[in-house]
Amino acid sequence: MTAPETAPIGVFDSGIGGLSVLKALQAELPHQRYVYLADSGHAPYGEREPQHIIDRTMAAVDYLIMHHGIQALVVACNTATAIAIHLLRVDHPQLPLVGLEPAIKPAAQHSRNRRVGVLATRGTLQSEKFRVLHAGLAQQTEFILQPCDGLAGAIERQDEDRITTLSAQYCAALGPCGSAPGLIDTVVLGCTHYPLVADRLQALLGADVTLIESGAPVARQTRRVLPHIATEGKSETRYYTTGRKEALQSAVQRWSQADALVSTLEI
Ligand code: DGL
Repeated sequence: MTAPETAPIGVFDSGIGGLSVLKALQAELPHQRYVYLADSGHAPYGEREPQHIIDRTMAAVDYLIMHHGIQALVVACNTATAIAIHLLRVDHPQLPLVGLEPAIKPAAQHSRNRRVGVLATRGTLQSEKFRVLHAGLAQQTEFILQPCDGLAGAIERQDEDRITTLSAQYCAALGPCGSAPGLIDTVVLGCTHYPLVADRLQALLGADVTLIESGAPVARQTRRVLPHIATEGKSETRYYTTGRKEALQSAVQRWSQADALVSTLEI
């Protein structure tokens, strides 16, 4: 049985990073209901074993289907998409699924210098899915792949000092950036946590560098796969976390300037 248009869209991330995607969804589909699930109690995923990510992603999806009857799921996490989305498609063939992957194709199209930096988690960059994506584009564009160990975790904890240190370290590791010929002129934010600190990354990389993220294209893709689109009524978002309620609440306030009704969850 297909879920009705009043059924919410599930949005799942290892933590608060998916809020950057949720914002784009709310702009693209303003009348829809959403259930946001942050697995903050088990984040970050980026440096964990694949089996941990698979188990957590499966548990989250089962919860969203059983308790919220979602009509579609956005896996707002590059790492979970890279490691687990093919298994979700097997387990839930009826459920429209939208995943995220580092936007290296749009970045390659955008880069005049054909030099693109990619900031992502180690799990994403080491995945087979990313290897295939990269191999298909590496002929025309040089990609400088930078795993950012610890950065998503620091953003998750809102640990400002650590965010500053790691952002500086990883931006410097990319090498010279700017619009002059030969430099990296485009940088992909290949983890949904990174747009939450985009201002800081932009300041480090320089104003000439274009940052590419996936929120808006993912929202458009979600519109395409939805069986039903609500065209009227108020949007409503419910937030769940396996971590600390206050952490998600303050991230929503900071990121969306909205008060959030957050519940904690054990799955
Ligand atoms: N936000 C996630 C991503 O897009 C995962 C970050 C993490 O948990 O390490 O990759």
